[in-house]
Amino acid sequence: IRNASLETLADSEAVALRMAELLVEGIQAKADGLYRVALSGGSTPKRLFELLASDAFRNRVAWDRLQVFYGDERHVELGHPDGNQTVAQSVLLRHVPIPAENIFPIPTGATVTADAAVYEKALKAAYGSDELEKGRPLFDLVMLGLGTDGHTASLFPGQPVLHEVKAWVGTAAPETVPYERVTLTYPAIASSALVVFLVTGASKIEMLERLRAGDQELPSARVTSEGRIVILADRAAAGA
Ligand code: 6PG
Repeated sequence: IRNASLETLADSEAVALRMAELLVEGIQAKADGLYRVALSGGSTPKRLFELLASDAFRNRVAWDRLQVFYGDERHVELGHPDGNQTVAQSVLLRHVPIPAENIFPIPTGATVTADAAVYEKALKAAYGSDELEKGRPLFDLVMLGLGTDGHTASLFPGQPVLHEVKAWVGTAAPETVPYERVTLTYPAIASSALVVFLVTGASKIEMLERLRAGDQELPSARVTSEGRIVILADRAAAGA
């Protein structure tokens, strides 16, 4: 993780607000084409999704200019309460006027490998080219969380997925987490104009410190971007 900039904000609400502002600004700044965002999973983004669906932001986002992908998904049936897509759909996407064709759900009906391959095809279709290279950067924004074991997306310590070069892969469920996963890999995350880590809460103090120090043992610290990396952390996670 090189040239990452850290913004320390008062609390998790301020982190969600700042992320919402960055999204609004990013869409406005993108002159032509759709703004491609890969949403992060877990519990941190929930408040951001609520904000984006609220009166404060719903009318500030050009929803028809957004293309929504998922950074990773637990391999559970669509609608399962533990699915990252379930949270995004129920808290945000169902409440805003985003065209259905601009949302790219990760299939979770077959094996993780087969579903990852299908998702990679969807990504290529979104770029209108069968080589991902033509669509570079793949994303205008990749949102990432930080696990208490230092993982991000579903890039878990010691897993083969850390060495994958394809854009999407299925990964076994390490003993530390339930479910197999489909996840973006490092090359796909790197193909971005902006990566934003959302890190809140005292449980992340150690991992945020190690992330900022670039401790390569952490999968999250091995994230790179062709563009910028910003870490939005609240004071609790920054140990302030
Ligand atoms: C997932 C996420 C994962 C998450 C971190 C942080 O599917 O679980 O993609 O990478 O971002 O585990 O999770 P919290 O936001 O719940 O702390």
